[in-house]
Amino acid sequence: MAGGPGAQPTRRDFGEPFPDHLAIIMDGNGRWARRRGWMRVRGHQEGIDSVRQITTECARLGVQSLTLYAFSVENWKRPRKEISFLMKLLADFLVAERPTLAKNDIRLRAIGRVEDLPAAALAELRETERLTANNGGMVLRLALSYGSRTELADAARALAADVERGALAKEAIDEETLRAYLYDPTTPDPDLVIRTAGELRLSNFLLWQASYSELYVAECGWPEFREPQLHEAIRSYTARVRKFGGLIEDLPPLSQGRSASGGA
Ligand code: IPE
Ligand code: IPE
Ligand code: MG
Repeated sequence: MAGGPGAQPTRRDFGEPFPDHLAIIMDGNGRWARRRGWMRVRGHQEGIDSVRQITTECARLGVQSLTLYAFSVENWKRPRKEISFLMKLLADFLVAERPTLAKNDIRLRAIGRVEDLPAAALAELRETERLTANNGGMVLRLALSYGSRTELADAARALAADVERGALAKEAIDEETLRAYLYDPTTPDPDLVIRTAGELRLSNFLLWQASYSELYVAECGWPEFREPQLHEAIRSYTARVRKFGGLIEDLPPLSQGRSASGGA
């Protein structure tokens, strides 16, 4: 790294490919808190500091798009008290972080069935979107009341309605047509999807957009995922070869470890 010990790495220090489009499944808040003998919600509270630090660091590094999975459609199944806490935290976050978003030129958008949010949280969301709409730096997307299957079903319904009223010919439907009906068609396919707390699943997150994303799982809970952990994830991405189904000559042979775990 350039700049001597303690200096913050720049994008150039990471080399290529750099993950311009990042998406993160912020998991493990509850377990992080329980492990310390605290209530689960304290983990959500602490996770806000990770959101601020990761968002600011991504913007500093020149990441173009950061999508954070903040609340899934499935999360409505949680106890009412936890949901209320999360919704209050969301509304407070949206107000408190406006100066940070402005200072870092970040545009905030949301994907999901946001109309399901309580009125107070939805109002702060709309206001923050409005206030940051002309910011030209990184786009921070919050996935709120988000589920990929819901997104695809909502898209299919809207698309069918357009076919029915003659605005769209069914023969014209291709991948890009379908993308245009997703919550935010400008959401880029993530280069890298990070999940914290060690779970090896996508939990209904960006199933369409992440078709060819690289995956990275951090063992720590979200409240502990800070700049060093982000840098480690980026370094892991930079070391990968993306083939998109094609062929690349001269790939190193499979290691003993990998072929052994592959069976046979
Ligand atoms: C992630 O942490 C935050 C949300 C899903 C809202 P969790 O609340 O899922 O924490 P764990 O996974 O139960 O530890
Ligand atoms: C995924 O975490 C959803 C968010 C991070 C918002 P969950 O904790 O809800 O996922 P599961 O239940 O472990 O799959
Ligand atoms: Mg969880």
